[in-house]
Amino acid sequence: MTTHWARYIQHWELLRPPLRPHAEVIDRIRSLVGAGEARCLLLGSTPEYAALDVQIIAVDVTFGFLAALWKNGKPARLAIQSDWARMPIKTGMLSHVLGDGSLNAVSTSVLPSVLDEVTRVLRPDGVLIARVFCRPEAAEHAEDIRRDVALGRVDSFHALKWRIAMSALPDPSCSDIAVTLIRDAMVTQFPDREALCRMTAWQRAEIDTIDVYDRSTAVYNFPTEPMILATLRRWFQDVEAVPTGSYPLAERCPLIIARTPRRATQ
Ligand SMILES: C[S@@+](CC[C@H](N)C(=O)[O-])C[C@H]1O[C@@H](n2cnc3c(N)ncnc32)[C@H](O)[C@@H]1O
Repeated sequence: MTTHWARYIQHWELLRPPLRPHAEVIDRIRSLVGAGEARCLLLGSTPEYAALDVQIIAVDVTFGFLAALWKNGKPARLAIQSDWARMPIKTGMLSHVLGDGSLNAVSTSVLPSVLDEVTRVLRPDGVLIARVFCRPEAAEHAEDIRRDVALGRVDSFHALKWRIAMSALPDPSCSDIAVTLIRDAMVTQFPDREALCRMTAWQRAEIDTIDVYDRSTAVYNFPTEPMILATLRRWFQDVEAVPTGSYPLAERCPLIIARTPRRATQ
């Protein structure tokens, strides 16, 4: 699993929104978190969050990510190499937990232990703010995706990758998908990468980032928006989804804001 993320680092600079948080998202988070007093936990190493001028503890299981992306830390930034399901952090000490695709980066069987930990480390008035990649209620057909690419309606390879991923779930009643299946679907739908480059003017190197998924054991999950809201309501009393702007596929990347953690057993 860590091998998957270690390979992912090599392609980091080639990733664009929606995979990376757009400036609109960061602005929104900044206004939600406020300045100064917040004590935030970041699930992962997302470097764009460094722009938030607050205390941040980043927790990431992959040391390479922390080392590569958090090189020039300010004193208020701390990084811990740990699994989100077992964080060496005191109970109830944080005002915010932030995540960018973090809740998608684990399977639905692991997600409950992550949410147990998130609610444990938050203060009673603490807030989870997480950008979550949400699939549409009705899965798209492969031919509709191919048509949109041909018509120039897909803004970037990364938007295409998420559309393929969300449409390739083996069982729509479960949100899990092994990342190898995302690559398989991409190879089936677009076997000729040079032709895809010519049709779209996307860089070949960007398209080749899909190969990070080759032989990876990672499993992601892509819930619908109602599914992730329902899941989070088991851990928080007040949960809402907020749209996050106008970048490619933004409509499928709401910020989920969850307040008033429930600490008792679910
Ligand atoms: C947050 S996710 C998704 C990437 C995200 N869109 C971004 O740009 O930040 C990526 C990070 O999560 C970390 N990660 C994945 N599963 C984890 C887990 N169970 N515990 C701790 N870190 C994890 C990976 O090592 C990687 O650095």
